[in-house]
Amino acid sequence: MINLAILISGRGSNMEAILRAIKKKKILAKPVVVISNKPGAKGLEIAQKLGVKTVVVDSTGLKGISWEYDQKIIATLEENNVTSRNGLVCLAGFMRIMSPQFILHYKGRILNIHPAILPAFPGLHSQRQAIEYGVKYSGCTVHFVDEGMDTGPIILQAIVKVKDGDTEESLSKRILKQEHRIYPKAVRLYAQGRIKTKGRKVILL
Ligand code: GRF
Repeated sequence: MINLAILISGRGSNMEAILRAIKKKKILAKPVVVISNKPGAKGLEIAQKLGVKTVVVDSTGLKGISWEYDQKIIATLEENNVTSRNGLVCLAGFMRIMSPQFILHYKGRILNIHPAILPAFPGLHSQRQAIEYGVKYSGCTVHFVDEGMDTGPIILQAIVKVKDGDTEESLSKRILKQEHRIYPKAVRLYAQGRIKTKGRKVILL
């Protein structure tokens, strides 16, 4: 069974969706630790209520990529037995960019959810970018994390129609509903060993 770690910075609703799916035995994985870089993250309370260990690795004052900081994350992961052999690291609203060294360490074992149909609208405020661009459809993407910004191989995507009069909030809300559906699904596929990559293409077995 894989040992799962979830990294958050805030609300933690995707984390909650994954943890609940594990509770319901829809995903066969051991949720060993939730790590937040922000001491007050709301998701920390949710994780605790669900009986999952939480650790804060505070990044206050740190700007940009930091291998030094990421080594603290690796140390926390390894203390909790999330290793480069048995672990899966899910970024769920984790607002830091990981260093290339970190990504190499957990190569093929880091997932992220992004609130747009990648490669469109990477980076921050994707829902606002989608509305301002005038696209008729947006959605969300679960992907492997590589050294780029939201550029890793795509595992699952879900489409959401952009309605006339949508605001960043209203669109975000509908996209989030789909995020909560496809992120647990991707973790389940991973835990079942059903995700294969060929270059940047993902094949679901
Ligand atoms: C989600 O919209 C996710 O796609 C993005 O950050 C947000 C995190 O929300 N990466 P939550 O903390 O999971 O509620």
